[in-house]
Amino acid sequence: MCGIVGYIGERKAVPILIEGLSALEYRGYDSAGLAMVGDEQLHVHKVKGKVDALRERIKSERLDGTVGIAHTRWATHGGPSEPNAHPHTDHGNAIAVVHNGIIENYAAIKERLKRNGVSFKSETDTEVLAQLIGKYYTDGDLVKAVTKALSDIEGTFGIAVIARDNPDLLIGARRGSPLVVGIGEDEYLLGSDTSAIVAHTDKVIYLKDGHLATLTRNGYSTLTLDNRPASHKVHTLEYGAEALAKGGFDHFMLKEIFEQPETIQNAMRGRLLTEEGTARLDGLNLVMTELRRINRIIFVACGTSWHAALCGEYLMEDLAGIPVEVEYASEFRYRNPIIDSKTLVFVISQSGETADTLAALREAAHKGATVLGICNVVGSSIARETHGGVYLHAGPEIGVASTKAFTSQLTVLSLLTLLMGRMRRISHDDGMAIAKGLDRIPSQVRKILKQNDYIAEIAAIYSRHNNFLYLGRSYNYPVALEGALKLKEISYVHAEGYPAAEMKHGPIALIDTNMPSVVVALKDSVYEKVISNMEEIRARSGKIIAIATEGDKTIQKHADHVVYIPKTLPVLTPLLAVIPLQLLAYHIAAIRKCEIDQPRNLAKSVTVE
Ligand code: F6R
Repeated sequence: MCGIVGYIGERKAVPILIEGLSALEYRGYDSAGLAMVGDEQLHVHKVKGKVDALRERIKSERLDGTVGIAHTRWATHGGPSEPNAHPHTDHGNAIAVVHNGIIENYAAIKERLKRNGVSFKSETDTEVLAQLIGKYYTDGDLVKAVTKALSDIEGTFGIAVIARDNPDLLIGARRGSPLVVGIGEDEYLLGSDTSAIVAHTDKVIYLKDGHLATLTRNGYSTLTLDNRPASHKVHTLEYGAEALAKGGFDHFMLKEIFEQPETIQNAMRGRLLTEEGTARLDGLNLVMTELRRINRIIFVACGTSWHAALCGEYLMEDLAGIPVEVEYASEFRYRNPIIDSKTLVFVISQSGETADTLAALREAAHKGATVLGICNVVGSSIARETHGGVYLHAGPEIGVASTKAFTSQLTVLSLLTLLMGRMRRISHDDGMAIAKGLDRIPSQVRKILKQNDYIAEIAAIYSRHNNFLYLGRSYNYPVALEGALKLKEISYVHAEGYPAAEMKHGPIALIDTNMPSVVVALKDSVYEKVISNMEEIRARSGKIIAIATEGDKTIQKHADHVVYIPKTLPVLTPLLAVIPLQLLAYHIAAIRKCEIDQPRNLAKSVTVE
């Protein structure tokens, strides 16, 4: 969602803040701002728009201070505007605050403060916090003022705070929203995630929920929000600053699509046991007994991760014989889901911070379930709150549209199925066949990526169409959903994903020459059925782009364009079939000149409900 960066040290803060904001811009990009203490003044600059607009705004300012905070926003309370941009300050312009999260009781506090003569400059919930800290900051003890203000607050926050008269202190605190402390040499940073920090240090503390960090030029400490010393662990980041560069690609999304041979490999490294026909997942070692004992799984996720979960259902039921339910986290958390001692809950999240998924996790844990996670971001809230789990090791995903995380999730779900299936009904030989199939996937993805130019040509033919249907069946029904989501979010073209056979129960009414269909039609048990669906489309003058199995010449009679993918086991086809759909969406969006890495209205990690 929004991005936070803070700096205290010996260097000028502003260039570091701006650079940090650029690295965080994928989290939100409707407005940006910074505050810095220098010459005994609090300098605050804010703009509506992107970080470049902020850079432009401050280019002729003299901003030499060595402590500051900055923010890139994705609007929740109050539309995108300069007054609503962070940082927010108090009445006396003595305190500046940047905030991620939502203050639920802000209206009541605002009324109270107004009655006491405080006037407000914005419509945000965050300003309430700045005003409260300002009100409590009476004796020069900023930590006390911050903790007192936070004790009045209901809701979630990740914050960074500085004060005009205290240029030697930067405070960070969190409840619900993530915050990371970077430990450099005689300098410290705060970031809503590690991308704001990695250019300066690889040593980080993932601040625990309900904790506060005080950072000075001489050191740091962590406290609980009721002011007691707290423990923390220093971690070393597994990736460097180069992971945040586009590496010669026009967009992060394209770079991430092209990284998939490696990221899929990384998800399997040391885990896939080809000779034994099984997998080893060390993050699940503590729950091995539960894995053997359970008789039902619930996968909980949102968006693309939910699509991966749906593939997981097909895999797990088909191969391991374990009944699975797939739930939207946002629904799960407000239902009364039935969870007994033999139910295992898996939450799946790239960011590990999605508010709905986190809340669902807590609800399941509250009901006594063992909750496991499949996450990409190391140290994320979900990774920390689950009883065990598996990391994707896909590296930072910067493009807002998820691509490499999806295929890594599918890979981990395949490994999980192998592990749990071999405890049950997958034979050694079948396990070996699946493991060998998985082992071949990275090179097969590489082969598909070679068709990038051809897929761009197809995209050019259809780039002006405003409605698309995506169809798939069995294992590739979730792939159809994912292909449609990719197109919608980055090109703003309406696309619907459907199980191929459901088309005749409604969507077929939409088919005409202007509504192309993208059909995953692979040589598997439903091939003939899907071909019949394609014929139903063609009979109504619909155009078809088919994703087909290498060597299938027949399909050319049934489609206008065919993109071939290599042969693999049906259970593994989603890992391959999704690649052309990612590329198709990317090229259509590029031709339509959309902001591919930062599509309108979206943010990378949705840390609000
Ligand atoms: C789609 C996309 C979103 C996310 C969803 C869940 O491309 O990125 O639909 O998949 O917001 O996010 P995570 O996986 O971080 O929980």
